[in-house]
Amino acid sequence: MKTKTIYTCQQCGARSVRMIGKCPSCGGWDTYVEEAINIGQKNIAKVPLGKNKPVRLSEITTDGEFRLVTKIKELDRVLGGGIIPGALILVGGDPGIGKSTLMLQMCSGLKQFNPFYITGEESLQQIKYRSKRISGIPEDVLLLAETNIEQIDYAIKSSDCNIAIVDSIQSVYTEKIESTPGSVSQVRECTGLLMQTAKQTGKAIFIIGHVTKEGVIAGPKILEHMVDTVLMFEGEKTYSYRILRATKNRFGSTNEIGIFEMSESGLKQVTNPSELFLAQRQEQDSGVAIVAAIEGTRPILLEVQALVSPSGYAVPQRTANGVDIRRLNMILAVLEKRLGLKFRQYDVFVNIAGGVYISDPAIDLGIAAALVSSLKDKAVDSKTVLIGEIGLTGEVRAVSAIEQRIKEVEKLGFNQVVMPKHSYKKLPGSFKISISPVERISLALSGLF
Ligand code: TYD
Ligand code: MG
Repeated sequence: MKTKTIYTCQQCGARSVRMIGKCPSCGGWDTYVEEAINIGQKNIAKVPLGKNKPVRLSEITTDGEFRLVTKIKELDRVLGGGIIPGALILVGGDPGIGKSTLMLQMCSGLKQFNPFYITGEESLQQIKYRSKRISGIPEDVLLLAETNIEQIDYAIKSSDCNIAIVDSIQSVYTEKIESTPGSVSQVRECTGLLMQTAKQTGKAIFIIGHVTKEGVIAGPKILEHMVDTVLMFEGEKTYSYRILRATKNRFGSTNEIGIFEMSESGLKQVTNPSELFLAQRQEQDSGVAIVAAIEGTRPILLEVQALVSPSGYAVPQRTANGVDIRRLNMILAVLEKRLGLKFRQYDVFVNIAGGVYISDPAIDLGIAAALVSSLKDKAVDSKTVLIGEIGLTGEVRAVSAIEQRIKEVEKLGFNQVVMPKHSYKKLPGSFKISISPVERISLALSGLF
Protein backbone atom coordinates (compact mmCIF):
# COMPACT_ATOMS: atom_id res chain seq x y z
CA MET A 1 0.00 0.00 0.00
CA LYS A 2 1.30 3.43 -0.92
CA THR A 3 0.72 6.70 0.89
CA LYS A 4 0.11 10.09 -0.62
CA THR A 5 -0.16 13.53 0.94
CA ILE A 6 -3.24 15.65 0.59
CA TYR A 7 -4.47 18.80 2.33
CA THR A 8 -7.61 18.87 4.45
CA CYS A 9 -9.56 21.82 5.83
CA GLN A 10 -9.73 21.44 9.62
CA GLN A 11 -13.03 23.30 9.76
CA CYS A 12 -15.19 21.67 7.10
CA GLY A 13 -13.18 18.66 5.96
CA ALA A 14 -12.79 19.80 2.33
CA ARG A 15 -9.77 18.26 0.62
CA SER A 16 -7.30 19.52 -1.92
CA VAL A 17 -4.12 18.28 -3.57
CA ARG A 18 -2.45 21.63 -2.94
CA MET A 19 -2.04 23.87 0.08
CA ILE A 20 -4.74 26.56 0.04
CA GLY A 21 -4.83 29.76 2.12
CA LYS A 22 -8.57 30.36 2.06
CA CYS A 23 -10.94 27.40 1.98
CA PRO A 24 -13.24 27.66 -1.06
CA SER A 25 -15.81 25.54 0.71
CA CYS A 26 -16.23 27.20 4.14
CA GLY A 27 -14.24 30.41 3.71
CA GLY A 28 -11.86 29.70 6.63
CA TRP A 29 -8.32 31.09 6.51
CA ASP A 30 -5.21 28.95 7.13
CA THR A 31 -7.32 25.95 7.94
CA TYR A 32 -5.62 23.48 5.61
CA VAL A 33 -3.19 20.94 7.05
CA GLU A 34 -1.17 18.25 5.36
CA GLU A 35 -2.32 14.65 5.83
CA ALA A 36 -1.02 11.29 4.74
CA ILE A 37 -3.57 8.96 3.19
CA ASN A 38 -3.19 5.39 2.05
CA ILE A 39 -3.82 4.74 -1.62
CA GLY A 40 -4.23 1.44 -3.35
CA GLN A 41 -6.61 -1.38 -2.54
CA LYS A 42 -6.64 -2.91 0.86
CA ASN A 43 -7.88 -6.46 0.47
CA ILE A 44 -10.97 -6.36 2.62
CA ALA A 45 -11.65 -10.07 2.25
CA LYS A 46 -8.49 -10.81 4.22
CA VAL A 47 -9.67 -8.91 7.29
CA PRO A 48 -10.95 -11.53 9.76
CA LEU A 49 -14.53 -10.70 10.60
CA GLY A 50 -16.10 -11.11 14.02
CA LYS A 51 -12.85 -11.04 15.94
CA ASN A 52 -14.30 -8.67 18.51
CA LYS A 53 -17.64 -9.92 19.80
CA PRO A 54 -20.26 -7.66 21.39
CA VAL A 55 -20.66 -8.24 25.15
CA ARG A 56 -23.15 -7.16 27.78
CA LEU A 57 -22.18 -4.45 30.24
CA SER A 58 -22.76 -6.91 33.10
CA GLU A 59 -20.25 -9.33 31.61
CA ILE A 60 -17.40 -6.87 31.85
CA THR A 61 -15.41 -7.03 35.05
CA THR A 62 -13.16 -4.35 36.36
CA ASP A 63 -11.71 -6.56 39.08
CA GLY A 64 -8.02 -6.30 39.20
CA GLU A 65 -8.09 -2.84 37.69
CA PHE A 66 -4.54 -2.03 38.13
CA ARG A 67 -2.64 1.22 38.12
CA LEU A 68 1.07 1.79 37.96
CA VAL A 69 1.78 3.91 41.01
CA THR A 70 4.59 6.40 40.48
CA LYS A 71 5.15 6.88 44.23
CA ILE A 72 5.24 10.64 43.60
CA LYS A 73 2.07 11.45 45.54
CA GLU A 74 1.45 14.79 43.85
CA LEU A 75 1.62 13.11 40.44
CA ASP A 76 -0.41 10.03 41.36
CA ARG A 77 -3.22 12.18 42.68
CA VAL A 78 -3.44 14.22 39.48
CA LEU A 79 -3.43 11.01 37.46
CA GLY A 80 -6.39 9.72 39.48
CA GLY A 81 -4.42 7.22 41.58
CA GLY A 82 -1.71 6.11 39.16
CA ILE A 83 -1.19 5.23 35.51
CA ILE A 84 -3.64 2.93 33.72
CA PRO A 85 -1.89 0.40 31.46
CA GLY A 86 -2.35 1.27 27.80
CA ALA A 87 -3.08 4.93 28.51
CA LEU A 88 -1.76 7.69 26.30
CA ILE A 89 -0.90 10.71 28.42
CA LEU A 90 0.11 14.11 27.13
CA VAL A 91 2.28 16.28 29.37
CA GLY A 92 2.14 19.87 28.18
CA GLY A 93 3.86 23.05 29.33
CA ASP A 94 6.18 25.87 28.41
CA PRO A 95 9.73 25.02 27.40
CA GLY A 96 12.01 24.96 30.45
CA ILE A 97 9.22 24.50 32.99
CA GLY A 98 10.44 21.06 34.05
CA LYS A 99 8.57 18.47 31.98
CA SER A 100 11.64 16.37 31.18
CA THR A 101 12.78 16.55 34.79
CA LEU A 102 9.37 15.41 36.06
CA MET A 103 9.27 12.48 33.64
CA LEU A 104 12.79 11.40 34.52
CA GLN A 105 11.99 11.57 38.22
CA MET A 106 8.84 9.56 37.59
CA CYS A 107 11.06 6.73 36.32
CA SER A 108 12.55 6.23 39.77
CA GLY A 109 9.20 5.29 41.30
CA LEU A 110 8.33 3.03 38.39
CA LYS A 111 11.54 1.01 38.45
CA GLN A 112 9.83 -2.38 38.52
CA PHE A 113 7.86 -1.53 35.35
CA ASN A 114 11.00 -0.98 33.24
CA PRO A 115 10.48 2.64 32.23
CA PHE A 116 11.77 3.55 28.77
CA TYR A 117 12.71 7.18 28.13
CA ILE A 118 13.03 8.26 24.50
CA THR A 119 14.49 11.66 23.80
CA GLY A 120 14.39 13.55 20.56
CA GLU A 121 15.64 16.76 22.11
CA GLU A 122 18.67 15.99 24.19
CA SER A 123 21.70 13.76 23.79
CA LEU A 124 22.17 10.75 26.02
CA GLN A 125 25.10 12.56 27.66
CA GLN A 126 22.81 15.46 28.56
CA ILE A 127 20.36 13.03 30.17
CA LYS A 128 23.19 11.43 32.11
CA TYR A 129 24.33 14.84 33.30
CA ARG A 130 20.81 15.72 34.39
CA SER A 131 20.33 12.42 36.20
CA LYS A 132 23.42 13.18 38.28
CA ARG A 133 21.72 16.29 39.64
CA ILE A 134 18.57 14.43 40.59
CA SER A 135 18.78 11.70 43.18
CA GLY A 136 17.12 8.35 42.77
CA ILE A 137 17.07 7.96 38.99
CA PRO A 138 17.47 4.20 38.48
CA GLU A 139 20.75 3.25 36.81
CA ASP A 140 19.05 0.68 34.63
CA VAL A 141 16.40 2.98 33.13
CA LEU A 142 16.30 2.38 29.36
CA LEU A 143 17.21 5.35 27.20
CA LEU A 144 17.08 6.01 23.48
CA ALA A 145 17.93 9.13 21.48
CA GLU A 146 15.78 8.98 18.35
CA THR A 147 13.46 11.20 16.33
CA ASN A 148 12.05 8.80 13.74
CA ILE A 149 8.64 7.74 15.06
CA GLU A 150 8.64 4.40 13.22
CA GLN A 151 11.96 3.55 14.91
CA ILE A 152 10.60 4.73 18.25
CA ASP A 153 7.46 2.70 17.81
CA TYR A 154 9.45 -0.41 16.99
CA ALA A 155 11.72 0.14 19.99
CA ILE A 156 8.74 0.48 22.34
CA LYS A 157 7.06 -2.62 20.96
CA SER A 158 10.18 -4.75 21.14
CA SER A 159 11.32 -3.70 24.61
CA ASP A 160 9.87 -5.18 27.78
CA CYS A 161 8.87 -1.79 29.18
CA ASN A 162 5.43 -1.20 30.67
CA ILE A 163 5.76 2.50 30.32
CA ALA A 164 7.41 4.68 27.70
CA ILE A 165 8.06 8.42 27.56
CA VAL A 166 8.47 10.26 24.26
CA ASP A 167 10.19 13.63 24.77
CA SER A 168 8.90 15.52 22.81
CA ILE A 169 6.11 15.11 20.25
CA GLN A 170 7.38 18.21 18.45
CA SER A 171 10.80 16.69 17.84
CA VAL A 172 9.68 13.41 16.26
CA TYR A 173 8.60 12.82 12.67
CA THR A 174 7.15 10.18 10.40
CA GLU A 175 8.60 9.50 6.97
CA LYS A 176 5.09 9.29 5.57
CA ILE A 177 4.76 13.05 5.50
CA GLU A 178 7.18 15.58 4.10
CA SER A 179 6.41 18.46 6.46
CA THR A 180 8.86 19.36 9.20
CA PRO A 181 8.74 17.88 12.72
CA GLY A 182 6.40 19.84 14.95
CA SER A 183 3.96 20.70 12.17
CA VAL A 184 0.31 19.99 12.81
CA SER A 185 0.20 17.00 10.49
CA GLN A 186 3.41 15.45 11.86
CA VAL A 187 2.19 15.84 15.43
CA ARG A 188 -1.09 14.19 14.57
CA GLU A 189 0.37 11.27 12.63
CA CYS A 190 2.98 10.54 15.29
CA THR A 191 0.42 10.71 18.11
CA GLY A 192 -1.88 8.41 16.13
CA LEU A 193 0.84 5.81 15.83
CA LEU A 194 1.71 5.97 19.54
CA MET A 195 -1.96 5.69 20.44
CA GLN A 196 -2.31 2.48 18.43
CA THR A 197 0.77 1.05 20.08
CA ALA A 198 -0.43 1.95 23.57
CA LYS A 199 -3.81 0.30 22.98
CA GLN A 200 -2.38 -2.80 21.27
CA THR A 201 0.40 -3.50 23.72
CA GLY A 202 -1.10 -2.21 26.96
CA LYS A 203 2.03 -0.14 27.57
CA ALA A 204 1.33 3.31 28.96
CA ILE A 205 2.89 6.04 26.85
CA PHE A 206 3.62 9.60 27.99
CA ILE A 207 4.18 12.18 25.30
CA ILE A 208 5.67 15.55 26.14
CA GLY A 209 4.36 18.54 24.24
CA HIS A 210 5.59 22.12 24.29
CA VAL A 211 2.96 24.76 24.54
CA THR A 212 2.99 27.59 22.04
CA LYS A 213 2.80 31.23 23.11
CA GLU A 214 -0.96 31.27 22.64
CA GLY A 215 -1.19 28.69 25.39
CA VAL A 216 -2.35 25.82 23.22
CA ILE A 217 -0.47 22.63 22.64
CA ALA A 218 0.98 22.91 19.15
CA GLY A 219 -1.06 20.89 16.75
CA PRO A 220 -4.78 20.81 16.36
CA LYS A 221 -7.26 20.32 19.15
CA ILE A 222 -7.50 16.82 17.76
CA LEU A 223 -4.28 15.97 19.64
CA GLU A 224 -6.01 16.62 22.93
CA HIS A 225 -8.98 14.54 21.76
CA MET A 226 -6.76 11.62 20.83
CA VAL A 227 -5.04 11.15 24.17
CA ASP A 228 -6.67 9.78 27.31
CA THR A 229 -5.22 12.32 29.69
CA VAL A 230 -3.80 15.81 29.34
CA LEU A 231 -1.57 17.04 32.14
CA MET A 232 -0.42 20.65 32.07
CA PHE A 233 2.72 21.64 33.94
CA GLU A 234 2.49 25.33 34.77
CA GLY A 235 4.36 27.96 36.67
CA GLU A 236 5.95 31.34 36.38
CA LYS A 237 9.60 31.31 35.42
CA THR A 238 10.29 33.76 38.24
CA TYR A 239 8.87 31.47 40.91
CA SER A 240 10.35 28.13 41.78
CA TYR A 241 7.10 26.24 42.30
CA ARG A 242 5.23 24.37 39.56
CA ILE A 243 1.63 23.23 39.34
CA LEU A 244 0.57 20.03 37.61
CA ARG A 245 -3.05 20.03 36.51
CA ALA A 246 -5.15 17.47 34.62
CA THR A 247 -7.18 19.33 32.00
CA LYS A 248 -8.59 16.07 30.67
CA ASN A 249 -8.66 12.67 32.31
CA ARG A 250 -10.55 9.61 31.10
CA PHE A 251 -9.49 7.78 34.25
CA GLY A 252 -10.02 10.28 37.02
CA SER A 253 -11.09 13.73 38.08
CA THR A 254 -9.72 16.85 36.44
CA ASN A 255 -9.89 18.99 39.56
CA GLU A 256 -6.78 17.77 41.28
CA ILE A 257 -3.56 19.69 41.24
CA GLY A 258 -0.08 18.63 42.22
CA ILE A 259 2.39 21.20 43.52
CA PHE A 260 6.14 20.94 43.13
CA GLU A 261 9.11 23.14 43.77
CA MET A 262 12.06 23.18 41.37
CA SER A 263 15.23 22.90 43.40
CA GLU A 264 18.92 22.44 42.68
CA SER A 265 18.39 18.70 42.76
CA GLY A 266 15.21 18.33 40.75
CA LEU A 267 11.52 18.70 41.61
CA LYS A 268 10.40 18.43 45.22
CA GLN A 269 6.81 17.80 46.26
CA VAL A 270 5.05 20.55 48.15
CA THR A 271 2.86 18.92 50.75
CA ASN A 272 1.71 22.10 52.46
CA PRO A 273 0.96 24.62 49.71
CA SER A 274 -0.65 27.21 52.02
CA GLU A 275 2.63 27.76 53.83
CA LEU A 276 4.38 28.28 50.51
CA PHE A 277 1.83 30.78 49.21
CA LEU A 278 1.68 32.83 52.39
CA ALA A 279 5.43 32.90 52.96
CA GLN A 280 6.04 36.38 51.57
CA ARG A 281 3.04 38.06 53.15
CA GLN A 282 3.29 41.66 54.35
CA GLU A 283 0.90 41.64 57.28
CA GLN A 284 0.28 45.32 57.84
CA ASP A 285 -0.28 46.44 54.27
CA SER A 286 -3.60 47.67 52.94
CA GLY A 287 -5.09 45.93 49.90
CA VAL A 288 -4.35 42.43 51.15
CA ALA A 289 -6.81 39.71 52.22
CA ILE A 290 -6.38 36.01 52.93
CA VAL A 291 -8.80 33.54 51.32
CA ALA A 292 -9.31 29.78 51.59
CA ALA A 293 -9.77 28.25 48.14
CA ILE A 294 -10.34 24.61 47.22
CA GLU A 295 -8.17 23.27 44.44
CA GLY A 296 -9.26 19.74 43.57
CA THR A 297 -9.91 18.16 46.93
CA ARG A 298 -7.39 20.24 48.81
CA PRO A 299 -7.85 23.53 50.63
CA ILE A 300 -5.21 26.20 49.97
CA LEU A 301 -4.86 29.53 51.71
CA LEU A 302 -3.85 32.35 49.41
CA GLU A 303 -3.21 36.05 49.55
CA VAL A 304 -5.37 38.30 47.35
CA GLN A 305 -3.75 41.64 46.59
CA ALA A 306 -5.59 44.67 45.27
CA LEU A 307 -4.38 48.09 44.26
CA VAL A 308 -6.90 50.87 43.77
CA SER A 309 -5.23 54.04 42.58
CA PRO A 310 -6.45 57.29 40.97
CA SER A 311 -6.76 56.88 37.23
CA GLY A 312 -5.21 59.17 34.65
CA TYR A 313 -7.46 57.83 31.93
CA ALA A 314 -11.01 58.62 30.91
CA VAL A 315 -11.73 54.90 31.06
CA PRO A 316 -10.03 53.50 34.16
CA GLN A 317 -8.01 50.30 33.89
CA ARG A 318 -9.14 46.95 35.27
CA THR A 319 -6.46 44.29 35.51
CA ALA A 320 -6.81 40.80 37.03
CA ASN A 321 -4.04 38.24 37.50
CA GLY A 322 -5.06 34.84 38.78
CA VAL A 323 -8.80 35.57 38.71
CA ASP A 324 -11.34 36.05 35.94
CA ILE A 325 -11.59 39.73 34.94
CA ARG A 326 -15.38 39.36 34.57
CA ARG A 327 -15.57 38.18 38.16
CA LEU A 328 -13.60 41.25 39.26
CA ASN A 329 -15.91 43.56 37.29
CA MET A 330 -18.94 41.92 38.88
CA ILE A 331 -17.54 42.36 42.40
CA LEU A 332 -16.73 46.03 41.65
CA ALA A 333 -20.26 46.59 40.39
CA VAL A 334 -21.74 45.00 43.53
CA LEU A 335 -19.52 47.14 45.78
CA GLU A 336 -20.60 50.29 43.91
CA LYS A 337 -24.28 49.48 43.88
CA ARG A 338 -24.73 47.87 47.31
CA LEU A 339 -22.14 49.72 49.40
CA GLY A 340 -22.10 53.00 47.50
CA LEU A 341 -18.32 52.85 47.01
CA LYS A 342 -16.92 54.71 44.01
CA PHE A 343 -14.32 52.91 41.92
CA ARG A 344 -15.04 54.87 38.75
CA GLN A 345 -12.11 57.29 39.02
CA TYR A 346 -9.67 54.56 39.98
CA ASP A 347 -7.52 52.04 38.19
CA VAL A 348 -8.01 48.63 39.78
CA PHE A 349 -5.45 45.80 39.84
CA VAL A 350 -6.07 42.44 41.47
CA ASN A 351 -3.48 39.73 41.83
CA ILE A 352 -3.31 36.32 43.50
CA ALA A 353 0.13 36.26 45.10
CA GLY A 354 2.28 33.47 43.72
CA GLY A 355 0.84 33.55 40.24
CA VAL A 356 -1.77 30.77 40.58
CA TYR A 357 -5.14 30.95 38.81
CA ILE A 358 -8.17 30.40 41.03
CA SER A 359 -11.63 29.73 39.63
CA ASP A 360 -13.22 28.91 43.01
CA PRO A 361 -15.92 31.60 43.59
CA ALA A 362 -15.41 31.29 47.36
CA ILE A 363 -12.58 33.82 47.08
CA ASP A 364 -15.05 36.60 46.06
CA LEU A 365 -15.37 37.93 49.59
CA GLY A 366 -11.60 38.14 49.94
CA ILE A 367 -11.31 40.02 46.64
CA ALA A 368 -13.97 42.47 47.83
CA ALA A 369 -12.17 42.96 51.16
CA ALA A 370 -8.82 43.58 49.43
CA LEU A 371 -10.46 46.12 47.10
CA VAL A 372 -12.15 48.03 49.90
CA SER A 373 -8.99 47.87 52.00
CA SER A 374 -6.94 49.44 49.21
CA LEU A 375 -9.60 52.06 48.47
CA LYS A 376 -9.75 53.11 52.14
CA ASP A 377 -6.03 52.50 52.66
CA LYS A 378 -6.75 50.52 55.80
CA ALA A 379 -5.29 47.04 56.36
CA VAL A 380 -7.58 44.03 56.85
CA ASP A 381 -7.01 42.31 60.18
CA SER A 382 -4.07 40.04 59.40
CA LYS A 383 -5.38 37.11 61.45
CA THR A 384 -8.69 36.90 59.57
CA VAL A 385 -9.53 34.68 56.59
CA LEU A 386 -12.49 35.39 54.31
CA ILE A 387 -14.65 32.76 52.65
CA GLY A 388 -17.75 33.36 50.53
CA GLU A 389 -19.17 33.79 47.06
CA ILE A 390 -20.80 37.15 46.34
CA GLY A 391 -24.20 37.31 44.65
CA LEU A 392 -25.52 40.18 42.56
CA THR A 393 -27.75 41.48 45.33
CA GLY A 394 -24.82 41.72 47.71
CA GLU A 395 -25.59 38.47 49.52
CA VAL A 396 -22.80 36.18 50.71
CA ARG A 397 -23.54 32.77 49.21
CA ALA A 398 -22.76 29.31 50.57
CA VAL A 399 -19.61 27.53 49.41
CA SER A 400 -18.55 23.89 49.14
CA ALA A 401 -16.27 21.96 51.50
CA ILE A 402 -16.53 24.51 54.31
CA GLU A 403 -15.25 22.19 57.01
CA GLN A 404 -12.06 21.44 55.11
CA ARG A 405 -11.43 25.13 54.53
CA ILE A 406 -11.87 26.02 58.18
CA LYS A 407 -9.58 23.19 59.30
CA GLU A 408 -6.86 24.57 57.03
CA VAL A 409 -7.39 28.07 58.43
CA GLU A 410 -7.04 26.69 61.97
CA LYS A 411 -3.98 24.68 61.05
CA LEU A 412 -2.17 27.78 59.84
CA GLY A 413 -2.77 29.69 63.04
CA PHE A 414 -5.36 32.30 62.07
CA ASN A 415 -7.79 33.67 64.71
CA GLN A 416 -10.93 34.40 62.81
CA VAL A 417 -12.87 33.32 59.76
CA VAL A 418 -15.66 35.28 58.08
CA MET A 419 -17.95 32.89 56.23
CA PRO A 420 -21.45 32.56 54.70
CA LYS A 421 -24.29 32.07 57.17
CA HIS A 422 -25.81 29.38 54.95
CA SER A 423 -22.64 27.28 55.16
CA TYR A 424 -22.40 27.85 58.90
CA LYS A 425 -25.64 25.94 59.45
CA LYS A 426 -24.06 22.88 57.85
CA LEU A 427 -20.92 23.06 59.89
CA PRO A 428 -20.55 19.99 62.13
CA GLY A 429 -18.82 20.11 65.51
CA SER A 430 -17.09 23.04 67.05
CA PHE A 431 -13.90 24.83 66.14
CA LYS A 432 -11.35 26.61 68.29
CA ILE A 433 -11.24 29.51 65.88
CA SER A 434 -13.69 32.40 66.10
CA ILE A 435 -16.30 32.18 63.34
CA SER A 436 -18.34 35.12 62.02
CA PRO A 437 -21.25 33.93 59.89
CA VAL A 438 -22.55 36.70 57.60
CA GLU A 439 -25.42 37.05 55.16
CA ARG A 440 -24.61 40.34 53.46
CA ILE A 441 -21.39 41.72 52.05
CA SER A 442 -21.92 44.97 53.97
CA LEU A 443 -21.81 43.15 57.29
CA ALA A 444 -18.89 40.98 56.22
CA LEU A 445 -16.73 44.00 55.43
CA SER A 446 -17.80 46.30 58.22
CA GLY A 447 -15.93 44.54 61.00
CA LEU A 448 -12.69 44.02 59.16
CA PHE A 449 -10.83 47.28 59.32
P1 TYD B 1 13.42 20.73 31.94
O1 TYD B 1 12.90 19.52 32.63
O2 TYD B 1 14.52 20.52 30.95
O3 TYD B 1 12.22 21.52 31.22
P2 TYD B 1 11.32 21.11 29.95
O4 TYD B 1 11.54 19.68 29.66
O5 TYD B 1 9.92 21.43 30.37
O6 TYD B 1 11.76 22.00 28.83
O7 TYD B 1 13.85 21.75 33.07
C1 TYD B 1 14.56 22.84 32.72
C2 TYD B 1 14.82 23.81 33.83
O8 TYD B 1 14.83 23.31 35.12
C3 TYD B 1 16.16 24.39 33.57
O9 TYD B 1 16.03 25.79 33.46
C4 TYD B 1 17.01 23.99 34.72
C5 TYD B 1 16.01 23.68 35.79
N1 TYD B 1 16.47 22.61 36.68
C6 TYD B 1 16.69 22.90 38.01
O10 TYD B 1 16.55 24.04 38.47
N2 TYD B 1 17.07 21.89 38.86
C7 TYD B 1 17.26 20.62 38.41
O11 TYD B 1 17.62 19.74 39.22
C8 TYD B 1 17.03 20.34 37.03
C9 TYD B 1 17.23 18.96 36.49
C10 TYD B 1 16.63 21.36 36.20
MG1 MG C 1 12.56 18.90 27.98
